[in-house]
Amino acid sequence: MLVNPKPEQLADWFSKSSRVAVLTGAGVSAESGVPTFRDKTTGLWAKFNPKDLATFTSFLSKPDLVWEWYEFRKKAIHQTEPNPGHLALVRMEDWFADFTLITQNIDNLHQRAGSARLIELHGNIERNYCITCGREKREVTDLPPKCDSCGGLVRPDVVWFGENLPERALQNAWKKSSESTIFMVIGTSAEVYPANRLPYEAKCAGAQVIVINPDENPVTHYADAQVFGKSGDYLPHLCNEIQKKLNA
Ligand code: OAD
Repeated sequence: MLVNPKPEQLADWFSKSSRVAVLTGAGVSAESGVPTFRDKTTGLWAKFNPKDLATFTSFLSKPDLVWEWYEFRKKAIHQTEPNPGHLALVRMEDWFADFTLITQNIDNLHQRAGSARLIELHGNIERNYCITCGREKREVTDLPPKCDSCGGLVRPDVVWFGENLPERALQNAWKKSSESTIFMVIGTSAEVYPANRLPYEAKCAGAQVIVINPDENPVTHYADAQVFGKSGDYLPHLCNEIQKKLNA
């Protein structure tokens, strides 16, 4: 495995590649000020129990509490801006015949940065829907919000523990992963299934796998390269080098 490659070394791989897939996790938003989940001190799961806040059962028993937590997080996210890591991934979109950004993040920051070729695996905190009739509710005023059409309970459009991922998104993510020739794994602990199987799928199908993360994760064991660093630091340099090669 290549450890801490210079951006120009990786740019060489990209210049020979036409199908790029990227999996992102909470770490890509860390430099925007959004807390990750599993950091031992600042991570959300160090402070809150996912069983109380991120399961359908907890929602049904305490919808007010779950909603307060999501509204609190949404307000905090609204105070943040996309960082250079998000913006670099937008730049990369048009450089390859196929480019797919697969995110586990619900914070909407990739979308606000301008990413368009995006698959949301875990939903989006900006959307809500009625658990009875499925209709979307745009404005949340009273908590817990009720559906304008049928009066049913409205929930955030995010995937909770024990729930299936949106089927079309997951199928598309499998397909794009297995077709990719480069697969980047950025800012995720790669602990949550099934997202954490996508890089392995790509590897088995012959892709070069690159991890960008200050720490090791399970993908490190079979990656072709790991950058031990922050995505917001590294990705802009990588983009500059790729652009130079593509323009040469
Ligand atoms: P985690 O909190 O598990 O992992 C965040 C990763 O980002 C860690 O490996 C950090 O080392 C890394 N990291 C931190 N700062 C970084 C930076 N500046 N640049 C690059 N990497 C950095 O978050 P996820 O892997 O996203 O699911 O968690 C996966 C899922 O678990 C989430 O989508 C959420 C959570 O429970 C659901 O809610 C369904």
